[in-house]
Amino acid sequence: MSEDFKPKIIYFMCSWCGTGGSETASAHHLYYPENVIPFRVNCTGAISPLHLLRAFVEGADGIVISGCHPGDCHYNDGNFRARRRVASIKSILDSLGLGADRVWFRYVAHGEGKRFADTAAEFNEHIKNLGPNPLKERKET
Ligand code: FES
Repeated sequence: MSEDFKPKIIYFMCSWCGTGGSETASAHHLYYPENVIPFRVNCTGAISPLHLLRAFVEGADGIVISGCHPGDCHYNDGNFRARRRVASIKSILDSLGLGADRVWFRYVAHGEGKRFADTAAEFNEHIKNLGPNPLKERKET
């Protein structure tokens, strides 16, 4: 894979825990790659499979979703719904040739700035190894 490949990564996070994690990372000056684009949603349970597919069609190379830990979701079970949706979309991603592992779900609590930053950095490396979203190449030809 080209050393120049800088993946476009969308990092969905809920307004409560996920966003809190990113704020804690910032407060502690923890680095995460600048090509990771934070996208705040009220609760991860509001993210539908169509949002994820649309992001890939629009050129995302990978998507991370971070919500509250089990028992902490402010909307009861939005985090579990999001986790189930991520699990269920993986076979669709495979059938489209994208690969199932272009979407991750991770629990991140408000105070877990290091976990937030580590997840972003680890996922960035993971997507660099996978290479660009193949739909982009198909779109260009
Ligand atoms: S409010 Fe954080 S996942 Fe629902």
